[in-house]
Amino acid sequence: MTQLSETVRIDTEPTEVGDVAVIVVDNPPVNALSSHVRQGLYDGLKKAADDGVAGIVIICEGRTFIAGADITEFGGGAQKAAGLNEVQALMEASPVPVVAAIHGTALGGGLEVALCAHYRVSVRGAKFGLPEVNLGLLPGAGGTQRLPRVVGVPKALDMMTSGRHIGVDEALEAGLVDQVVDNVVDGDLAALRSAAVAFAAKVVEEGRPLLKISDRDDKILAHRGDEKVFADFRASIARKTRGFLAPEYNIRCIEAAANLPFDEGMKVEGKLFLELMTGPQSAAQRYAFFAERAANKIPGIDKDTPLIDVKRAGVLGAGTMGGGIAMNFANAGIPVTIVDRDQPSLDRGLGVVRKNYERSAARGSIPADAVEQRMALITGSTDKAAFADCDVVIEAVFEDMELKKSVFRELDEICKPGALLATNTSALDVNEIAAVTSRPESVIGMHFFSPANVMKMLENVRGDRSSDTVVASTMAIGKKIGKVPVMVGVCRGFVGNRMLFARGAEADRMLLEGATPAQIDTVLYDFGFPMGPYSMSDLAGLDIGWKAETSTGSTIREVLCESGRRGQKNGRGYYTYDPETREATPDPEVVELIKQFAVGHGHEQREISDQEVLERLLYPMINEGAKILDEKIAIRGSDVDVVWVHGYGWPVYRGGPMYWADSVGLPEVVAKVREYGERLGGRHWELSPLLERVASEGGALHQYSN
Ligand code: NAI
Repeated sequence: MTQLSETVRIDTEPTEVGDVAVIVVDNPPVNALSSHVRQGLYDGLKKAADDGVAGIVIICEGRTFIAGADITEFGGGAQKAAGLNEVQALMEASPVPVVAAIHGTALGGGLEVALCAHYRVSVRGAKFGLPEVNLGLLPGAGGTQRLPRVVGVPKALDMMTSGRHIGVDEALEAGLVDQVVDNVVDGDLAALRSAAVAFAAKVVEEGRPLLKISDRDDKILAHRGDEKVFADFRASIARKTRGFLAPEYNIRCIEAAANLPFDEGMKVEGKLFLELMTGPQSAAQRYAFFAERAANKIPGIDKDTPLIDVKRAGVLGAGTMGGGIAMNFANAGIPVTIVDRDQPSLDRGLGVVRKNYERSAARGSIPADAVEQRMALITGSTDKAAFADCDVVIEAVFEDMELKKSVFRELDEICKPGALLATNTSALDVNEIAAVTSRPESVIGMHFFSPANVMKMLENVRGDRSSDTVVASTMAIGKKIGKVPVMVGVCRGFVGNRMLFARGAEADRMLLEGATPAQIDTVLYDFGFPMGPYSMSDLAGLDIGWKAETSTGSTIREVLCESGRRGQKNGRGYYTYDPETREATPDPEVVELIKQFAVGHGHEQREISDQEVLERLLYPMINEGAKILDEKIAIRGSDVDVVWVHGYGWPVYRGGPMYWADSVGLPEVVAKVREYGERLGGRHWELSPLLERVASEGGALHQYSN
């Protein structure tokens, strides 16, 4: 054995056709392609050639094959070392077979390395993918040109624009893998290693060709000059990828692979990669990636804090949120008890859950037999006593403080000592709820977003007395059920809704001044949000919390409800909806109702520019975000961004509100907040002292930390 660099070594294994060199990468945790890995691979390939071996195997220690680039080296940080392209050139040009032995995940740069081997041997559980698109990038080490040459154009389009990982069966069928061996058991890689060595020896013995993917065109010929396959594909992902540059650039690279010689295609890849890498979108997406990870760290909470072991979860309330919350646990294989106040409510709630699962199965996103398996994990009851053996109970009854207090008193009686008691309130005071129990240290907020089985965001709300174990367990539970958890503190609306309220207040004010619902929604849509506040209201139902008996026509929303508008559900809200297509059209009658209301309340209406609309929607959010940081409700500026990206559809290619404010320039934001504040007044325009201070110091909100 020879150590080649701090993370790469080389062994030799004798075979009947001669020695096979085994180059072993050992760069925990995921064998990222750090500079010393690249250098080690380079030196290993050179040494193997000098030693005159019969074949070469590249394998990794630990839990995975090379899982991708070392993203800490992005944007500087890289040590001087062999470039990946030099490593790849040596692999492809090797006069003896190079076999990649793959376990775990071969992703991004890892797969791009494997694609330069002549053959790939993999364990059954391995996964393959080019997820660069999720960081606003494209695979810049030949992946865009090689993958389509192995798996064909349609599959490459799918994999590269979604970043999806494929399993071994799919990889085998697509020709990405040449041989499959049994799974690694207990980290013992010996079987994979010997299978790969034997495979290399067999290639030599049988005189099989050294397949260079870059020379192949058998899989792409079918789509050479085929514009339709690309046009159709673009149309199929248009809605999902609106505003993002990277998916389109990945497609252009695959077009180049189909239509141009390999070297020309590589030039296209290089040019487009550089454009993405140095552009604002990828910078924002990479920031968002790290922000999500940073949110896991909670100052003062030791990483060895004992956690509550969740063997059974409970959910109180089988409504819109409760059903979705219960699904998260069932999806993670955790039995869950769901309680509602009466049988009809419970049956309705469980019916919705079943329908959701059935729809997922019909779409193919879960296996058909998963419907019954997951339903079997959900037990319904109308008696809260069923929570007695639950380790965590999440309350999702109506948003009413007195009701919440009364059910928490009951939970306090019923639940076992040490059980975590959470409320899904979207704005109420978690401390006030905790105070009615004899164990406020066990109480915390877990604010899920609707639909709770889909939305990734989990805004956890730590009470003044929540214990370390409860805080740490809440974060761990969030991870376990596949959420993006962020810990925040108590205030009205917490981080997300508090900022949303500020935006909403200003949006409603602009309606009075002459903007239309469609204008406001369009400005936000064009900025990159999936929808604006008025489309959202129509979707949720205009009459949530509205009662005809108590309605006084004192807001535009009340006026619309009084005129029989309920939103999408009855085809009329801020917009009118086509009964067939559900397509929204701006409604002149609504504009007229708003106008009458505004004039009746003494507001003069005028035309408002889209730029003003945008500033008046987003700057109050930034200002509120800064106040939230000042009050230490959020731990860091980047946490605020995570909440908005995952909870409210803030376009990730703009980082989040704090990051975006920094990119606009804080002095500009401060000047505008002042200007609008003087003109318009109102709490949400009162300039945050923290915002003013960070701006004057030349600091950045997205880097601010409490
Ligand atoms: P919902 O009205 O759909 O469901 C509430 C359920 O609680 C109903 O099934 C009702 O029968 C049940 N319930 C009421 N009192 C009960 C009692 N004493 N014992 C047992 N069950 C009882 O309401 P939704 O929308 O699910 O909201 C629940 C909570 O989640 C609220 O606090 C809300 O603010 C919060 N939330 C709602 C979001 C949304 O978009 N709908 C988003 C995030 C949080």
